[in-house]
Amino acid sequence: MDYFGYRQGEIHAEDLPLSRIAGEVGTPFYCYSTATLIRHYNVFCEAFPGDDFLLCYSVKANSNQAVLKTLAKEGSGADVVSGGELRRALAAGIPAEKIVFSGVAKTAQEMAYALEQGIFQFNVESVAEVQELNRVALSMGRVAAIAFRINPDVDARTHAKISTGKSENKFGIPLSRARQIYADAAALPAIRVQGVDIHIGSQLTDLEPFAQAFRRVVSLVGELRADGHDISVLDLGGGLGIPYDRASTKPPLPLEYGAMVRRIIGPLGCRILIEPGRLLVGNAGILVARVIYVKQGADRKFLIIDAAMNDLVRPSLYDAYHEIVPAVESSGPMVSYDVVGPICETGDTFARARELPELKSGDLVMIRSAGAYGAVMSSTYNTRPLVPEVLVKGGDFAIVRPRPTYDEIIGLDVIPEWLDQT
Ligand code: LLP
Repeated sequence: MDYFGYRQGEIHAEDLPLSRIAGEVGTPFYCYSTATLIRHYNVFCEAFPGDDFLLCYSVKANSNQAVLKTLAKEGSGADVVSGGELRRALAAGIPAEKIVFSGVAKTAQEMAYALEQGIFQFNVESVAEVQELNRVALSMGRVAAIAFRINPDVDARTHAKISTGKSENKFGIPLSRARQIYADAAALPAIRVQGVDIHIGSQLTDLEPFAQAFRRVVSLVGELRADGHDISVLDLGGGLGIPYDRASTKPPLPLEYGAMVRRIIGPLGCRILIEPGRLLVGNAGILVARVIYVKQGADRKFLIIDAAMNDLVRPSLYDAYHEIVPAVESSGPMVSYDVVGPICETGDTFARARELPELKSGDLVMIRSAGAYGAVMSSTYNTRPLVPEVLVKGGDFAIVRPRPTYDEIIGLDVIPEWLDQT
């Protein structure tokens, strides 16, 4: 459930009409709802009652400081995948002891910074990485707490570009070699092996691949304990999908996911970490755009809006479906539109043959489910300024990332001296 919907015929974000925010901020802009963020955070936590459980929000989904701070205040931890994300999480007030560091290619500098800050755990993805971490930690007189990310060779049944748990994917260590790798790591002086980590993919709409992977984790933990390792932490990754198309997609509820986790993992008595990203922020954000032109092609009608693939790349990159809703409610006849942006590529298409009420130049639309992997994946392609982000709370809103000026964008480039001389 989210807090974007029609009231008196006009879309509101919580208690604010979108047209009012658009009037002050200009379009396009991302709009996030505080109440939705908090609701999703709580719904997830309620799925793990009484367990030794830590939610480590996956910062990559939406790393705006205001979003992070909203979740930090609720008690969230963080899953980060770069030194930049680690700095963002700390800056937003997420304590280091609630932070895990994932990713296939942590550099020595990133490791050193994370060790200095005292993060809870490194999720290590290769033998080379654990050796490097040992070297860095040793040189600092520290000990790094780690889990290895296991590649369980499970088909997550999601889009190929966001599936991570098959043996052909670059992620994790192969299950078949895990015992040896754990044994070797335990012998390293600056490494403390404390857990097992897994993440099989994103936007999963079925519990079975999770269950299959978690069962493999359970048998591995049994073997590792028999080998003498003290395995007390299980990081189960993120991945639970959201209903992008609310009419036809019904992903499992966090409550069902939690029950499945407890049934399979519970008997191990470990501390459970989960790294949801999309589920917390996806439906807590929308992209608001204005119609620039309506154009009749030879046999298709194009709705050309002022948002584009550089602002929200998911439809172009993953053929992702996002609901598009006019800001003003209409009961008029429906028209079939190809909803496109201004960028000079045919891939700059948000939807094909989408049935919408008739729209005209100047009308506002909202693109739903844009809170996750939206602003964070945006670029300035075509020298389009990064889209501003707005956070709503009840009847208030704040611009939490302003739209850059053209001078700021162009000013990032540097003319070398030899070109400057006339
Ligand atoms: N943990 C790890 C190690 C991850 O790699 C990811 C996402 C997550 C947690 C969070 O997964 P979530 O709960 O959000 O599904 N840009 C793509 C999604 C990429 C996901 C990458 N990893 C998209 O727009 O669909």
